[in-house]
Amino acid sequence: MKRYFGKKVSTAVFISGRGSNLKNLIKFSRNKKSPIKIDLVFSNNRNAYGLSYAKIEKINTLFINDKKFYILEKKLLKILKEKKIKFICLAGFMRILTNNFIKKFKGRIINIHPSLLPKYKGLNTHRRVLDNNEIYTGCTVHFVNYKLDSGKIILQKKIKIFKNDNLKKLSKRVLKEEHKIYPKAIMKIFS
Ligand code: GAR
Repeated sequence: MKRYFGKKVSTAVFISGRGSNLKNLIKFSRNKKSPIKIDLVFSNNRNAYGLSYAKIEKINTLFINDKKFYILEKKLLKILKEKKIKFICLAGFMRILTNNFIKKFKGRIINIHPSLLPKYKGLNTHRRVLDNNEIYTGCTVHFVNYKLDSGKIILQKKIKIFKNDNLKKLSKRVLKEEHKIYPKAIMKIFS
């Protein structure tokens, strides 16, 4: 990624729900040392809590949904271009971007995933990890490429699973680590 010298990179965050990673990234982006500035929060879900939070924080929000995902992406790409967005952080965005979209932002989209990739790509990671009696799980920030959850890993944190862990406890502990590694991964990219 292009080195960052002073001027913050105009960034969009894509979310689908709660938005705790978004909240954390907003806080991080306001740090003087952060290489990114969040200029847009996009969601495909009108009721995503993260959208309300972004509004409170006076960040531009955008909701688009369409049964035809390529139409959604077409509208979205137009707005990203108008707003001169240069970098995209996926933070709990639960749709799979098409190759066409990824091509337009090649090497400039990153994602956070709640597992120790390449293990447990896709959905319901914590459930599957617990069902398989894994000893470790984790979280990963990676570049988005044409294959789901398979792009180059930027940063990863390994997390021990305890005997008395359940879905709630484990997801809470992993999320806490997600909040630590997402900003660190961004710093790493632009350093
Ligand atoms: C996070 O745990 C994130 O890693 C996960 O969704 C959650 C969103 O939480 N993302 C994925 O599973 C992507 N495949 P948040 O809305 O509170 O940030």
